Formats: sequence, C-alpha cells, structure tokens
Amino acid sequence: MDLSTGRPRDTWGSKAAFVLAAAGSAVGLGNIWGFPTVAGQNGGAAFLLIYLAAVALIGAPVMLAELIVGRRTQRNPVGAFKDLAPGSVWVVVGGLGVFTGIIILSFYSVIAGWTLSYIFKTITGTFVAGVDTEAIYNELAGSAVPAISWHLLFIMITIYVVLGGVRDGIERWTKVLMPVLFALLVLLAIRAVTLSGAEAGLAFYLKPDFSKVTGAVILSAIGQAFFSLSLGMGAMITYGSYVSKRDDLVSSAAWVTFADTTIAILAGLIIFPTLFHAGLEPGAGGPGMVFVVLTSLLSSIPPAPYGGVIFGTGFFMLLGIAALTSSVSLLEVVTSWAVDERGMSRRKAAISLGAVAFLIGVPSALANGAVSWLTNLPGIGMDFLSFLFMLFGQYSLVIGALLISLFVGWVWGVKAAGEEVRENDGEFPLGRTWGFLIRFVAPSAIVAILVKMVVDLV
Ligand code: TRP
Repeated sequence: MDLSTGRPRDTWGSKAAFVLAAAGSAVGLGNIWGFPTVAGQNGGAAFLLIYLAAVALIGAPVMLAELIVGRRTQRNPVGAFKDLAPGSVWVVVGGLGVFTGIIILSFYSVIAGWTLSYIFKTITGTFVAGVDTEAIYNELAGSAVPAISWHLLFIMITIYVVLGGVRDGIERWTKVLMPVLFALLVLLAIRAVTLSGAEAGLAFYLKPDFSKVTGAVILSAIGQAFFSLSLGMGAMITYGSYVSKRDDLVSSAAWVTFADTTIAILAGLIIFPTLFHAGLEPGAGGPGMVFVVLTSLLSSIPPAPYGGVIFGTGFFMLLGIAALTSSVSLLEVVTSWAVDERGMSRRKAAISLGAVAFLIGVPSALANGAVSWLTNLPGIGMDFLSFLFMLFGQYSLVIGALLISLFVGWVWGVKAAGEEVRENDGEFPLGRTWGFLIRFVAPSAIVAILVKMVVDLV
C-alpha cells in the first residue's frame, strides 16, 4: 500500500522492465567515469582483476540480498529494517543509506552536468583534431556559473523524472537506450584499440602487476564495485520493493551485475588505450580525466570533423541518459523514504529533497578550479568532490553493504530470505552458494580490508 495515496504500491510492468530499470540504476557515471578513474589511480590490470573478484564474490550476493529485503518488505530502506527488525538499531542502516543517497546525488549531478554541457560542445563541433581538450574541460569545470548551472539543470531533470513515479517515469527511459549505449561503446572501444600507442594502454589495463596491490587498492575495488552496482545504501532495496512476487530475483540480480560489469570493462577498453595514445598519465587528472581523454578520442574519429561530432553527440547524450537513470534511483530512494516514513506527498518530497541535493552539490561544483581551497582541500590533498566520493561513494557504501550482509545473513537469516526468493516458483538456484557468500565471504572480506586499512593508517 502506498501510504500517501492509499492505492496498492506501484510495481514494475514486467520482469524485463525491472531488470532494465535496475541496470539503468547501476549503469551510469560509475562505469564510464568512475571505473576508469579509480582503475587508473590503482594500477590498472591488478585493480581490474580484484574488481572482478569483488563483483562476483561480494557485489552479486549483496545485490540479491538487497532485492530480497526490498521485495519482502515492499518498503524504502528505513521502513524495510523497521519491518524486519522492529524496534532495533538496524533501522540506522537504512537511515545511513538515505543520507548517503542524497550526498552521492549531490556530486553525481555535478559530473552529470558536465555531460550535459558536453552534448552541446560536441554538437557545435568543439572537438576537432588538435584541440586542447584539457583546456576545454578546465574552462567548464573551473567556472562557477556554468558548473553550477549545469548541475542545477541536471537535478531539475532528475526531479522531473522521479515525479512521474515508477512506471511512467523510470521505466520508459531505460528500455530503449541501454542497448544503444552498449553498441556505441563497442564502436568507441574498437576505435580506441586501433589508435597508435594503444598497446601500452592495453598492457596497463590487462597485464596485472601484483606488486601494486595494497589494502587501499582492494578497498577501492570493493568500494567501486558497490558504487557501480548501486549497492550499500538501499537503492536495490527500494527497486526490489517494486518487484512483483511472480518475478525471479536470482536471474534479475545476475543480469544486472553482468550488464553493469560488462559496461565498466568496455569503458576501460576505451579510456586506457586512448590515454596512452595521448601520452597522458593514468593516475593523474582527477575527476576530469575521463572527459579530457574521451574528447580527444572523439576528435580522432574520421571523417573529420563529422565523425567526432556524430559519435560525440550520440555518446554524451547516452551518457547523460545513463547518468539520469542512475540519479533517478538515488533520488527515488530518498523520496520513497520521505513518502513512506514522513507521509510527505511524492511531489513535495522529490522537489524539496532534490533542492537539498542541489545545495549540497554546490561546493562540489566549485571544487574543480573555481574555488582553490575546494579544489585542493588543505591537509587532505584532494578536491572536495573526490573527497565526498571517497567518503560516501566508497566508504559509506562498504560499511552499508557490510551491515546489510550481516543483517540478512545472521539476523533476519538466510532461511527467511530463501523463502522470499522461492515465492515465485519454489526454486532458489545457487541458494547454498549465496548463503555461504553472504554469511561468511562478504562480511569477512570487508572486515579484513577495513582492519587492514586502519592498521596501515596507524
Ligand atoms: N551505480 C550508479 C553508477 O554507476 C550510481 C548510483 C546510482 C549509485 N544509485 C546508486 C551508487 C546507489 C551507489 C548507491 O553510476
């Protein structure tokens, strides 16, 4: 029941629609911007391998756990914990998730705003051979008014989609555009690996050097896996809450994980060869690296200048839409919390919480050149946006996912979870494996790496 309207809770139109929407949440800037950025900073190929292990052993089981909790309770993250563990402190996990969601949305929208701006830059033929793509990026990200305006525009579009509700708002966007994005990425990857000097990039990305693996690298890989799969803050609890009891959760989780990971790998195949071709450093560059590298790739697509204009416009439009289906899921979590738990109208909740995310995002919009102390935080040596990404896009999600796996594995219990999975056809493929991963592997891996990090610090 939707408390605000008294009508039965909205559900997805079909299983395929749900898988696409969840994949839409997962696939976004985290794959195309975040993954290459974090992989570049953490040694490339060794990071890729650890990332894949983290996705399979930790990410996929947590994804299923969140979907189960969502479908079982049909509530937002806070309501879900209230429902399964009434009167306990577990509700704090839901609260942390909602809070994390609004912070992630705040800086996510800044980067997504750059994407919108790049649609117009490419359409007007900015990226021709020989153009200084770094200067163009710095000018956009480093100027207060454009950076804030694009951020505002992106938040407004996000609010607009969330206002439409689950079926009409979110579903419609994702269905057609995801496959098109995938096809375009394949074409760009082909172009990238055939550039001169691409081999060095491929070696960096595909030939692991294990001497580069540290606790911090592993933590980044786990954190990136959660961010990319939209885990650890209850987005998948919320999306799972709209899944009908007829649908199969296990294959849904598998598809979403697979799609998300494939797109991240493809993004690396585009970025690293191009980066080495352009003679840039993979670890340097910060949040803007991907924009600088991608546009230099676009300017190389024949026939000049039309190749770059056509591919570039298409690419940034699709990236903008991929970012939108992700930001919508972030605002949806917060909105469903305010609607279910605070009795707000959907409209009021989406608009006011979107506005809050906009305001929190302003310092991130100013942290890429516009305001120097935000660009290089004193004593931290990072820009404000990267700092928030680390705290909320990585650490908070890792802790949230740890608590969710402990809750489902040990408190609520894999038995009850299994019953929910079997609601549709009585089957739970890989149920035992999942139980083992969620009870033992996921929590101990996360705890071990957090302990190692703390030990390294002191
Ligand atoms: N997964 C999205 C991306 O890769 C971002 C995202 C959407 C997200 N919802 C989330 C990240 C929830 C963490 C939690 O771009």
